[in-house]
Amino acid sequence: MCGIVGYIGTKNATEVLISGLSKLEYRGYDSSGVAVHTGSKLEVRKNAGKLSVLQTELEQQSLSGTLGIGHTRWATHGKPNDVNAHPHASEDGSIVIIHNGIIENYLPLKEALISRGHVFKSETDSEVLAHLIEEKYSGNLEQAVREALSEVRGAYGIVVTHVNHREIVAARTVSPLVMGVGQNEMFLASDVPALLNYTREVVFLHDGDMVVLNDSSYRIMDLQGNPVSREVSHIEWDAEAAEKGGFDTYMLKEIYEQPQALSNTLLGRLQDQTGEVDLELNLDPASFKRISIIACGTAFYAGLVGEYLIEQLARVPVEIDVASEYRYRQPLVSENTLAIVISQSGETIDTLEALREAKKSGAKTLGIINAKGSSMTREVDDTLYIHAGPEIGVASTKAYTSMVSAMLMLALWLGRARGTLDASTGTELLRSARELPRLVEEALSESRVANIKRVAEKYKDARDYLFLGRGVNSPTAYEGALKLKEISYIHAEAYAAGEMKHGPIALIDEKLPVVVIATDSVLLEKTISNIQEVRARGGKVIAVVSDGDTEASRHADDVIIVPKAHEMVSPVVNAVAMQLLAYFTATALGKDVDKPRNLAKSVTVE
Ligand code: F6R
Repeated sequence: MCGIVGYIGTKNATEVLISGLSKLEYRGYDSSGVAVHTGSKLEVRKNAGKLSVLQTELEQQSLSGTLGIGHTRWATHGKPNDVNAHPHASEDGSIVIIHNGIIENYLPLKEALISRGHVFKSETDSEVLAHLIEEKYSGNLEQAVREALSEVRGAYGIVVTHVNHREIVAARTVSPLVMGVGQNEMFLASDVPALLNYTREVVFLHDGDMVVLNDSSYRIMDLQGNPVSREVSHIEWDAEAAEKGGFDTYMLKEIYEQPQALSNTLLGRLQDQTGEVDLELNLDPASFKRISIIACGTAFYAGLVGEYLIEQLARVPVEIDVASEYRYRQPLVSENTLAIVISQSGETIDTLEALREAKKSGAKTLGIINAKGSSMTREVDDTLYIHAGPEIGVASTKAYTSMVSAMLMLALWLGRARGTLDASTGTELLRSARELPRLVEEALSESRVANIKRVAEKYKDARDYLFLGRGVNSPTAYEGALKLKEISYIHAEAYAAGEMKHGPIALIDEKLPVVVIATDSVLLEKTISNIQEVRARGGKVIAVVSDGDTEASRHADDVIIVPKAHEMVSPVVNAVAMQLLAYFTATALGKDVDKPRNLAKSVTVE
């Protein structure tokens, strides 16, 4: 997740860009840069580090001009250093670009450009855009950008300018882009807070939109050049509301950010044609005989999904521990063990200490981590970043679904490399993984969300809740119960559905809502039997079912319908329903969901 800003008008562009970027640092903060049209050329300044580093440099050596673009980076391809920072310039410096997203086919594009004589400066996927646009350019920037984008696959919010044109061209697919409309000035940004010091009139660009900005006008079109019209919205939000993107809470904003977060986790790593996954890891997948997964809380539940997927697809024995137990139980570890720590913050002390314990015993270590440069990333042998972007709401949402997706990719990578997963099953699973951002977008459609809100409000006064799930969705039940406990303070238990009859069934009476994950699965019939067992004892069944279900829903009191997904990827889609159920229960009870009592976002004490 990166932040981008563009400006054309009468003001000092550097000031507008820095002001905008300072509001977008939450989107990434490992490096930043600007390019300003200073009269005869486009001058670029960029540095690794926080925005303040760039700001100090610009105070010492100012750039003067009224057209410019700026970027704050959250590295995906290429280290966070000065060279990889944006903007990126074409060979002769006449074109500069900034990019948020991932160009999935950048490698073949880069190789082809190099064979045609282009010299690359950075390791980024984004730089191919500057070279490609330069190659297409023959006097018309808009046309060149359109032609270049027709060759690109992936996610992008891109902003481009050319030294010979007083205009800015921008386009988006998946990554967000909003335009600000001023008096004789125009703005672009990844998010509204970057614009609010200057204008409250904005146009939210849609997927596949392209826009050309001049000093006092703009044209919006699709990627083929056909004009499209988009409404100008007046933003009423104050600064705090703007940081929440107009949502009431960070948690809800982050729930809605999941399609984008999942794109960032998955895209660029899935090779559809071969069924392979490219995780850019240095680990040798054939070098270990067992895997140990260690994490806390929500990250632990992502690990449970991982345990299931890795054993199924890669046939390696996996054991999983909550981190606070791991280091005190004298686990058996050898140099044939791969210890995987999972953490959003990369700072949780229990997980960090468990990682140190595993290392001391000789294990190779891998971190599945969100926060760049966090303590764990410095101590593991290798890191698989989930790229979910900063998570501010205390209850984890987008980090969870991104962690689960990362575990799926890891299982696919191991399975292919160790020869336990054939190419055709690999390709099928890969395609299902690729569908996830779209499926989650669909899971967040207005009518589905409204239905979950209705169910949440109906049962908000329950004293207890029970969550049941099977197989790869047992952890979905655990995560659903944890989310509900954390933010609504309702007591919730979760069990693998088949375990219910061994005790928890005694809890069931007509006051107990029982959430049953009953989405498409080879074990669905067994889950339906569990639903009947609950109903027979008067419990209220809230069944989470796939689109088109006729069986499970027949026996339920209330139904939450989610998009149909391959069973192996369904925990991601189903988790969204769990998050919304907890969210609307808590808000119906008037709880502060962003700051639940007694909890901290990063737990750095044992
Ligand atoms: C639950 C939640 C916590 C964290 C746990 C681990 O919503 O946020 O359970 O998952 O404290 O935190 P990280 O992932 O930062 O190690």
